[in-house]
Amino acid sequence: MSSSSSIGISTVKPCCRILIGYRGSSIFGSHARSLENPNSSKSHSKSIHNRGSYCSSSRNSGRSSHCIVQRCIAHQPSSVVHGGRAFISSASASSNSIIRSRISAAGFYADSGILRRRGVLLVPKVASDYRNQSTSVDNNHVNEKGFEQIYIQGGFNNVKPLVIEEIEKSGNSVVLNGSAVDLDYFKELNEKTTPQEKDERVASEIEKEAWKLLRAATVTYCGSPVGTVAANDPGDKQPLNYDQVFIRDFVPSALAFLLNGDAEIVKNFLLHTLQLQSWEKTVDCYSPGQGLMPASFKVRSVPLEGTEGEFEEVLDPDFGESAIGRVAPVDSGLWWIIMLRAYGKITGDYTLQERVDVQTGIRLILNLCLSDGFDMFPTLLVTDGSCMIDRRMGIHGHPLEIQALFYSALRCGREMLTVHDGTKNLVAAINKRLSALSFHMREYYWVDMKKINEIYRYKTEEYSTDAVNKFNIYPEQIPSWLVDWIPEEGGYFMGNLQPAHMDFRFFTLGNLWSIISSLGTREQNEGILDLIDTKWDDLVAHMPLKISYPAMEGEEWRIITGSDPKNTPWSYHNGGSWPTLLWQFTLACIKMGRPELAQKAVSLAEQRLAADGWPEYYDTRGGRFIGKQSRNYQTWTIAGFLTSKMLLENPEKASLLFWDEDYELLETCVCALGGKASRKKCSRFAARSQDGA
Ligand code: GLC
Repeated sequence: MSSSSSIGISTVKPCCRILIGYRGSSIFGSHARSLENPNSSKSHSKSIHNRGSYCSSSRNSGRSSHCIVQRCIAHQPSSVVHGGRAFISSASASSNSIIRSRISAAGFYADSGILRRRGVLLVPKVASDYRNQSTSVDNNHVNEKGFEQIYIQGGFNNVKPLVIEEIEKSGNSVVLNGSAVDLDYFKELNEKTTPQEKDERVASEIEKEAWKLLRAATVTYCGSPVGTVAANDPGDKQPLNYDQVFIRDFVPSALAFLLNGDAEIVKNFLLHTLQLQSWEKTVDCYSPGQGLMPASFKVRSVPLEGTEGEFEEVLDPDFGESAIGRVAPVDSGLWWIIMLRAYGKITGDYTLQERVDVQTGIRLILNLCLSDGFDMFPTLLVTDGSCMIDRRMGIHGHPLEIQALFYSALRCGREMLTVHDGTKNLVAAINKRLSALSFHMREYYWVDMKKINEIYRYKTEEYSTDAVNKFNIYPEQIPSWLVDWIPEEGGYFMGNLQPAHMDFRFFTLGNLWSIISSLGTREQNEGILDLIDTKWDDLVAHMPLKISYPAMEGEEWRIITGSDPKNTPWSYHNGGSWPTLLWQFTLACIKMGRPELAQKAVSLAEQRLAADGWPEYYDTRGGRFIGKQSRNYQTWTIAGFLTSKMLLENPEKASLLFWDEDYELLETCVCALGGKASRKKCSRFAARSQDGA
């Protein structure tokens, strides 16, 4: 089934438009976007869409508010960066689209004077020229396999590999950025002797089916692919919003496409969602901060004004104002940045991230995250359900998932931002935050046998700046399940930390991203995989991987979820098993030199996913049953499986997607301020000595 029919787009020849409500911003100088675009005032029009709350020509906020129509862009216009200016070139039209292209203020604009050659303005200890040192300079390598390419890549063309900063070879293993990777494992994978075996590995029947399904989930807009629907379940009579393109759900799809050499859909996705970022969004007369990315969007077919029977396509985003619970999707912008970096790394096309509108998009997201509030902690403060777990699950405050994605996005931002007068403060703020955030997480979120024992003996009500029990945690909070569960070796980052509250549940996504982004120290990252290995029967069992562990039951479930019938114990977000987590597990395992662990999980999933109809999630303690309300043909299950397969076969590509310890950040560690005593306690210094740096 084509995606357009699944989302109800009329067969009448569509013309296309993007409806952009935007408001003036004073973040980067006054009303940055409108001032930056000399034509912007001409582009403004009154409300043109029936979603009045999005596009009203006047609001009482005191801020300027506009509605801009960008009609029928058959293909994404591309802005060409040339000599410090971004020029607009409107792309060619598809034959059945009407082009009335007006380049809008919000989407594409020339930004003369802002863009300068990177490196001209030097900011001490800020972003370095990371991306120019990428290994991925040659698109044609996308489909090639073989670990040897990590250091043989002929296509380096005067660029030094950065992601793989350091490879030492000894015996049958290499040390990749400090992590030992067993070459024999990959040799076996690559040398599966007969060509037949090789073909099977390249595309087993299951993989072929998965590719078919993934392609069928593609959503087009004005004739171009722009994303994939969340689920394409023909038996689903009530798709709710599963027929939309979710930002977070598209990440594994994007990676599968990129790793398969198909970058167009990802580029289109990044540019179209960028335009949606500027949308005027309001819930009951209140607007969240500029820079917020939608949770999802839908391509709608609407009657074309002034015509009879003609339709046009519009992009219709959901920023949480329709979502269950009305929660702002904090993770969307973070994922968008992570995806943008991945696009550059895998394709070698850095012109996208250098575009002025894209640079502005990055800045808006990061500014929103870094804006001052009442916080005492460097972690991001959010409401419940602001990420993959998008329903009430007791993850308000400072949940791990958001912090790990925040850290990753900050690292991406630091690599991608063009440093000039207008960004140097932001880059400095990013560096400061990275440093403070990793210190905070490493020190206070880490749980292992030793730490629990410390908490068990905590004194409480300590009033002083050098209290040991800084958050006033009562030892009685240590849950009884944890006392028996915590292994002697290994550990994990707890789910949440607030004054007088520690959420000791294990949340998989946040822990995996702590590994991938090096939010944790090397020892901690290894400890997380040790724990998953030791607790395999709890966290993987019949289907990888538990979204959270353990489930909340009884009174706790009643109070914390608000008696949510979808989140009953061992179901959905409350201890359900989500196969989409597989690709992130695979990435983490490859990074830590343990691909065999990922392979074990992939094989388990492979035995069931296709036969079960690619479910969204599984229920029960061991993940034996397909989830009670699970969709079938869930796209991120399919794409996550394909991505895991490709990452295992192309570990050199995987290495483009993770980060190693940043020693510069260790140098500027905030805790060094406290003198010798605090240095001793700081795990960063321990990390450094572990790594022998
Ligand atoms: C569920 C998940 C959310 C996902 C959405 C679409 O709401 O909790 O993370 O984005 O479905 O698949």
